[in-house]
Amino acid sequence: MNAKIIGMGHYAPQKVYTNTDMEKFVETNDEWIVQRTGIKQRHIAADDEFTTDLATKAAQKALENAGIGAEELDLIILATVTPDYFTPSCSCVVQKNINAKNAAAFDINAACSGFVTGTVIAKQFIETGLYKRVMVIGADALSKATDYTDRSTCILFGDAAGAVIYGASEENGVMSIDIGANGADGDKLTSLAYRYDEEEINMRLSKNPNHIRMAGSEVMNFAVRAMTKAAQRVCKEKGFTINDVDVIIPHQANIRIIESAAKLLKVDMNKIFTNLEFYGNTSSASVPVAMCEAVEQGVLKRGDKFIIVGFGGGLTWGAALIEY
Ligand code: UT7
Repeated sequence: MNAKIIGMGHYAPQKVYTNTDMEKFVETNDEWIVQRTGIKQRHIAADDEFTTDLATKAAQKALENAGIGAEELDLIILATVTPDYFTPSCSCVVQKNINAKNAAAFDINAACSGFVTGTVIAKQFIETGLYKRVMVIGADALSKATDYTDRSTCILFGDAAGAVIYGASEENGVMSIDIGANGADGDKLTSLAYRYDEEEINMRLSKNPNHIRMAGSEVMNFAVRAMTKAAQRVCKEKGFTINDVDVIIPHQANIRIIESAAKLLKVDMNKIFTNLEFYGNTSSASVPVAMCEAVEQGVLKRGDKFIIVGFGGGLTWGAALIEY
């Protein structure tokens, strides 16, 4: 059996920070942000709105889109780096909220590669025959972990959630995958939990350990290489070339990363779906939100072959070649 997409849903909070709004927090301007990142606005969760609230709404929409009941789910995998609690996991909170009483549930942390990694796990459970319906959610409320005094990061991040349900099918679904990590460069993108690390804390302007710190240009160089190689590998595994692929849906971090990777892959930007202009970087939510919008806009159609590819904290990467 193959893991076929049977439903998708996404959600982003109502509040929006435009580039002009960002000028109120830090010394920046619309021109710099647009030229260096492609981002024009980002959605921001309300003070009383958290990752599981976004994830629950995306999950409900995915169930509606698939036309199945929550009790039909066998497993919920939720990828996030901004959990409401360490325990219960966000996936357990969502399981309760949607009343998916027959589903197992666990969270994973692979930062911006989280949703793709969740997809890889779903594929294994379905192909072994253990489960028939697996929901993978990418959800992050990065605004809660953003240092709004650091202009090199705060202009990038936004909040959102996307959910995809994979069902067992004899038709093609998730066809090939590639995941990997380079832990040696993990210090290029950090957010602290329990470990007390004074040097790390002091590298933040806010001195808040939970805030994200990033060595932007170094992560960007890694991202271009990781996105290119992972996309090539998932094609090669199936004996495809990139020209056999209809759409590429990358993690929406920075338009310059996507353009550089497109050049290396020798693909036209028309083949690459982007929506970072409207959301910024939403970490694990970015790929499933983009998948939903690609379908809504008629860019991704049933029968198309497409690649999802993520890269980020860890450092990690992941790609999958999927037939929709
Ligand atoms: O999702 C996980 C993966 N994350 C990513 O893939 C993000 C990767 N990195 C990036 O997107 C880019 O590195 C950034 C957008 C964060 C920064 O772009 P950059 O081209 O690497 O710029 P830079 O950090 O080299 O900074 C260039 C200049 C600096 O000024 P000086 O030192 O040349 O005088 C910065 O201080 O731009 C300055 N700068 C800004 N200026 C106006 C940095 N942030 C801003 C800002 N507004 N918001």
